[in-house]
Amino acid sequence: MKHLLGIEDLSKLEIESIIERAEHYYNALENGKWDYRKLENKIILTLFFENSTRTLTSFDIAAKRLGADVVNWNANTSSLKKDESFSDTIDTLSAMQPDAIIIRHSEYGAPKYIARRVDCPVINAGDSWREHPTQALLDALTIRQEKGTLDGVTVAICGDVAHSRVANSNAKLLSIMGANVRFVAPEMLMPPELPATDITCFNNIEEGIKDVDVVMVLRIQKERMDRSEIPSDAAYFNNYGLTFERLKLAKDDVLVMHPGPMNRGVEIADDVADDPTRSLMKRQVANGIPTRMAILDMLVGE
Ligand code: NCD
Repeated sequence: MKHLLGIEDLSKLEIESIIERAEHYYNALENGKWDYRKLENKIILTLFFENSTRTLTSFDIAAKRLGADVVNWNANTSSLKKDESFSDTIDTLSAMQPDAIIIRHSEYGAPKYIARRVDCPVINAGDSWREHPTQALLDALTIRQEKGTLDGVTVAICGDVAHSRVANSNAKLLSIMGANVRFVAPEMLMPPELPATDITCFNNIEEGIKDVDVVMVLRIQKERMDRSEIPSDAAYFNNYGLTFERLKLAKDDVLVMHPGPMNRGVEIADDVADDPTRSLMKRQVANGIPTRMAILDMLVGE
């Protein structure tokens, strides 16, 4: 593995080995014992062209936990504002020879484009609606820790599936690992093409979450839509919001996930989001660190 650009490039074996390594770092962090000099003298460059709270901070902390130095490049204060082209910017940064580049961009395939131009490993931290592989890997670690396996687990991915890179990467990973994947969305938020062949689609949330093990809730990605396409928050909550009433239709031990940022009262009710036994959101965020430590270790440390 030279880069991590998408789940689509990974085999089942590679996914398993990343999750195993993430599990190793999870335990190491719990025990306070790991090689905190593993990436000493390595420079990790983060290039975020879109806003981020969780992913950027999580990569930053993961790299620092392994002893790397992190340079957070800022698009808004860069020479892109002086009309330098994207490719010249990348060539300039690459000439400084970072040991890895972590990129988030709204353009389809931007991480792949960069990977072709630079010499170091490139990690996709989210591109357009295409892929967000590290989110899918940390979600897989979280489900596996809770359910013991991914094989045979039924996961309903609910909400704005059409515009979600999280849905795309998760659906690919989960279906490779033997989970049953459902997409639950109004027709206008259903993707025109499915990322895996064995996904079942539901327009009705009550039917879609019936008997599932995990409900993965998604935000409406308003920044990727025409204004005319955006449903009103209240109408959306009425038809698709995850409430306790609806959650009763799923298995008794159903778990609720959300990649964040969440919009309370739109795709999810407050009490579901804050439920300490059902909601895994904080665990997902916490699992971002060992998962990204594993990926940095595998790409930069070996
Ligand atoms: C998501 C993203 O940016 O792709 N968040 C994340 O990285 N955890 C989801 C979103 O923005 O809705």
